[in-house]
Order: sequence, then structure tokens, then C-alpha cells
Amino acid sequence: MTSIARLKIERRDASGAIALATFEVPYEPGQSVLDGLRWIRVNRDPTLAFRYSCLNANACKECMMEVDGEVVYACLARMEPREMQLAPLHNKPLVRDLVTEIAPPPERLNPKKR
Ligand code: FES
Repeated sequence: MTSIARLKIERRDASGAIALATFEVPYEPGQSVLDGLRWIRVNRDPTLAFRYSCLNANACKECMMEVDGEVVYACLARMEPREMQLAPLHNKPLVRDLVTEIAPPPERLNPKKR
């Protein structure tokens, strides 16, 4: 029998409207939260926004989000066969869903200043 991880994801659009979406993901020991999100995007909802670049090297820092209220790297945080609450970083400007603006302000592209 396959275990299930239930990922309850706080999704927001640019207006700030919040919607909670719950996805059941097949669980295998050793999977990361990022593995679960990638499974959701491939198998359930291609519109789910999250960001990553290096998968599990902990080099890019782009997968930062909140899992059960704690800031983590989704590529390192282990998925568990229970309900897990995922949210974007609350202290960063939101882009969409689980994606926030993580670059320091001077590094962001700003066409008006060019
Ligand atoms: S995907 Fe690069 S640090 Fe997590």
C-alpha cells in the first residue's frame, strides 16, 4: 500500500488573495518537499508556482519557503506521510503561490533605473 503525503499549500495571486489547495502525493521515504511539489506540477496542477534551480545541492537558495511555519529549503526538507502546510515566505514580497522575491533589492532587475 502506498503512503500519502498531504501537502496543503497556501497559494496567493498578485492581489494577495489567499486560497488553500490540498494535494495528495504518493510518498516514498527520502523524498523532499520539492520532489512532492514537482510531482504535483507534473501530475495534478501545472499552474502551481514554485522556484528551484539546483534540486538538492543547496546552492541556489531559490526553493526557500515555509513548511509547517518554519523557513526551510524545500529541496532539503523531507516530505512526510502526513499533512504538511506549505506557504511562501511571509517576510518577502510575493510573486505568486510559493514564489517570493528573494534577491536583495539592489540585485533585482529594475528597468526604470537603467
Ligand atoms: S533547489 Fe537550490 S537550494 Fe533548494
